[in-house]
Amino acid sequence: MLFWFMCYLVGMWLISGSAAQSCPDLLPVDNSIFVAEDVNGQVLGTYVCLAGYHLVGEKTIFCNASKEWNTPTPKCHLGHCPDPVLVNGEFSSPGPVNVTDKITFKCNEHYILKGSNWSQCLEDHTWVPPLPVCKSSKYNRNKCKPQRC
Ligand SMILES: *[C@@H]1O[C@H](CO)[C@@H](O)[C@H](O)[C@H]1NC(C)=O
Ligand SMILES: *[C@@H]1O[C@H](CO)[C@@H](O)[C@H](O)[C@H]1NC(C)=O
Ligand SMILES: *[C@@H]1O[C@H](CO)[C@@H](O)[C@H](O)[C@H]1NC(C)=O
Repeated sequence: MLFWFMCYLVGMWLISGSAAQSCPDLLPVDNSIFVAEDVNGQVLGTYVCLAGYHLVGEKTIFCNASKEWNTPTPKCHLGHCPDPVLVNGEFSSPGPVNVTDKITFKCNEHYILKGSNWSQCLEDHTWVPPLPVCKSSKYNRNKCKPQRC
């Protein structure tokens, strides 16, 4: 925690020391930690969401040549990992997901699951194995070799 706090202080000092004269002050993002570093004279900010929240938007931000932040500040939304998405299918756990939560996937009728039928939310806010997709089984049939159709 002390480390993050020091990063925050150094970050704020960097921001106020250089780019801040030009770029507007950054608003704090709820449930996040902000780390800034000086990369070749340019201030690069990185937002990291706290445990239990995931980032929506761009993780890094910098003060660009027109003295504007290159992208809007991100948000940290409830749920340790991003909300799972499975078009033409369903998954076992809707709603906010906790770290180490496992979900399983199932495709609708006439769709075939490509990828893993389960995934786990990890400490680093990612789903592993990656989320699968549901492919139309019709699409598969069209792709088969002519002599086998
Ligand atoms: C700086 O960022 C703003 C906001 O995204 C954008 O409108 C502008 O074109 C950018 N300027 C440069 C030089 O990239
Ligand atoms: C996440 O974990 C907390 C604490 O263990 C629990 O209270 C909450 O119900 C969990 N949320 C979900 C969506 O499982
Ligand atoms: C996931 O796939 C494995 C192997 O293909 C299978 O044994 C298992 O029952 C499947 N689990 C679910 C929840 O569909």
